[in-house]
Amino acid sequence: MPDKKIHDALNEHITLELHAWYAYTGMSLWFEIHDLPGMASFMKQQADEEMAHANRIIQHLLDRDVHPVLPTIKPASVEYESVKSIFESMLAAEQKVTASIENCYRIAEQEDDQPARLMLEWFIGEQVEEEALARSIIGRINLAGDTGPGLLLVDQELGKREPHAHENEA
Ligand code: FEO
Repeated sequence: MPDKKIHDALNEHITLELHAWYAYTGMSLWFEIHDLPGMASFMKQQADEEMAHANRIIQHLLDRDVHPVLPTIKPASVEYESVKSIFESMLAAEQKVTASIENCYRIAEQEDDQPARLMLEWFIGEQVEEEALARSIIGRINLAGDTGPGLLLVDQELGKREPHAHENEA
């Protein structure tokens, strides 16, 4: 198969998904350390989703007879200023992922790579949900407060959240 820009772009995108997986794992540990089990569980689920996203792209490349490249992952922090700052970091990470997915989609269009476009369309919908989720949690924290009983309420809410319903859809 000739070299295609879309394959390079997808390989680069794997890095972002793995960075998100690692960062969310660190965030989950911070919540564990700070006695917020609901948020710890929620963020562990988010981390698992990011690994599933990386694997989805890796499988696409394998199916297209392209060798995936596994990147070096930069260290993840387990030190944060506040709960709100963690969800703001999550939103920023999701916005970076969205920009990369949209860039991949544009390249797939330019190269008329229909399988890549089809695969990326799932991610485009997913990113709308991921950004909306992070924004809604920041909004709940703004209402309830970043400490005390209000924060415990948001922790309980997030602890009840089911894993992403359509994560395993084709
Ligand atoms: Fe895989 Fe949350 O972006």
